[in-house]
Amino acid sequence: MAKFIPVQPFDIVIFGGTGDLSRRKLLPALFHRFLDGQLADSARIIGAARTKLSRDEFIAMAKKACFAISKNRKESDWKNFARLLHYIPIDTTADDADWDGLKGLLSQDNTRPVIYYMATTPLIYVASCQAMGHAGMNTPNSRLVLEKPIGTNLESARAINDGVGAVFPENSIFRIDHYLGKETVQNLMVLRFGNTLFEPLWSHHNVDHVQITVAENIGLEGRADYYDRSGAVRDMVQNHLLQLLCLTAMEPPNSLDGDDVRQEKIKVLRALNGFDAITAKTQTVRAQYGAGMDGDDPVASYIDTLSGEAKSSQTETFVAIKTEIKNWRWAGVPFYLRTGKRMAGRHSEIVIQFKPTPHNLFGEANKHANKLVIRLQPDEGVHMYMQIKEPGPGGLRIKSLPLNLSYADNFSVRYPDAYERLLMDVVRGNLALFMRRDEVESAWKWVDNLLASWDEGDQPIETYAAGTQGPMQSAMLMDRDGRSWWEGAS
Ligand code: BG6
Repeated sequence: MAKFIPVQPFDIVIFGGTGDLSRRKLLPALFHRFLDGQLADSARIIGAARTKLSRDEFIAMAKKACFAISKNRKESDWKNFARLLHYIPIDTTADDADWDGLKGLLSQDNTRPVIYYMATTPLIYVASCQAMGHAGMNTPNSRLVLEKPIGTNLESARAINDGVGAVFPENSIFRIDHYLGKETVQNLMVLRFGNTLFEPLWSHHNVDHVQITVAENIGLEGRADYYDRSGAVRDMVQNHLLQLLCLTAMEPPNSLDGDDVRQEKIKVLRALNGFDAITAKTQTVRAQYGAGMDGDDPVASYIDTLSGEAKSSQTETFVAIKTEIKNWRWAGVPFYLRTGKRMAGRHSEIVIQFKPTPHNLFGEANKHANKLVIRLQPDEGVHMYMQIKEPGPGGLRIKSLPLNLSYADNFSVRYPDAYERLLMDVVRGNLALFMRRDEVESAWKWVDNLLASWDEGDQPIETYAAGTQGPMQSAMLMDRDGRSWWEGAS
C-alpha cells in the first residue's frame, strides 16, 4: 500500500459546510486522507454555514456523507475522525456574524495553517472576505480557497480578485480547478517532462493536431438555475478544458514551483487565437440537447428540464471549438476542444495526433499515423497507438495497436478523488495546481471574446439528441479539415 506523508496539523473552516460540495467532495476527501494517516489527530475541521445545527447534528450529517462515498469504513475510524469535526452556525455577510465564536473553535497554535474554504456561492466571496478582514481572521498563516466560477466574465472576475485580494495576499489564495487534481492530469506532466521520448516530437514539426474532449452523459443534476446562466463555455471550457490545453501545450517549466508552472500556462492562454463573428461561425459549434436516451432510459430535452421563462433558453449544453496557439512551438497546429452534457457516455481524453510518415512505404496498407491518447476518465491510462504488421501470410496488413499504460492494469490502488490531493496541497502551501489571478483573467478574456463573437454574429444554436456525440455540425467541423473526432478504438 502507498505510504502517505502526514501533513502538518491544520485548521480548515468550510464555509458552506452543509452544502453539496462539502457533503459530496470535501468531507469525504478529508475522511479518506484521515484513513490513510495523513491528518494529525489535532487537525480541526470546522463546518460553518447559516443552518442552525449542533456539533452532533453536523457530525451525523458528515457521517452520512462520508459513508455514502467511502468503502471499507469502520465505526472505530469514524469515531476518531469525528473528534476532528466542529460546527458553527454563521452568516458571514451579516453584521452580527459570530466571528468570535469561530475564532474560539480555532487552535491557539498560531503556527499552523488556517484554511478558509469558500464552498459557497461566489456572490458572497468578497463580502465574506471583507468581514473576515474586519474580524481579524486574516493572519499570515491563513489560506483562502476559492471554488469556481470566479466571475462570469473578465470584469466580474476582476472584481472578485480585487475584493478578496484586498484581504488576502495572492500567494495565500488557492483557486481550485478540480481537474488539476485528477491523477491522469498530473500524469500528463510526468509523461511530458519525465520522459525524453516525447519532448522532441511535441510541436508543429510532428503533431498534426490535438483533440481535447470532456464528454458527460449526465444532465443538469438539479443545477438548472446555475447552468442555464452559464452554459458549457463558462461551466467547462473557461476552466477545465483550458487548463487541460495549457498542460498539454505549455513549455517545460523551470521547476514544479507554483509560479514556474503557472507562468508557462499563462503564456499559452495569452497565445490563444481569438475569434470574430465570421471565424466563430466556421471554427465553433454551439448546441443544446433535445430529447433522447441515456442508455436504455428516455431523457427529456434540455428545454423540458427548465421551467417558466427559461423555456426559450438559448444556453449551449455542447460546444466544439477549433483554436490555435500562436507561438513558435504550435503555430499551424489546430487544437480542437469539445465538451457537452447528455452525450453518449462519460469520457474525457486528450489525443495527440502525430503526422503521417513523410513517405508512405506501405501504401494503402498503412492508413494510420501515431496517436497518443491520454484518458482522464473512465479507465485512466495512456495509449500510444503504433503501426504493427498483422502476423501471417496473404499480403502485408498493418494494424494500429496501442502500447497500453492502463492504470487499472498496472496499479491496484484506489484512485483518490481530485479534492484529496488538492486539499493536502493547500495545507502544504503548494500553489502549483491552483490558478493564479492572471491565469483566471486571461482565460476569461479569451472566453469573453468567444461569447461576444457569438453574439455579434448571431451564432445559431444547433441541436443534438441526448445520448449522442453532439450535433452533426461538430463532426463537420472536423470533416472540413479532413479529420474526425476520436471516439475510442473500434
Ligand atoms: C464541474 C462542472 O466543474 O465539473 C460540472 O460545473 C461538471 O457541470 C463537472 O459536471 C465535471 O467534473 P468531473 O470531475 O465529474 O469530470
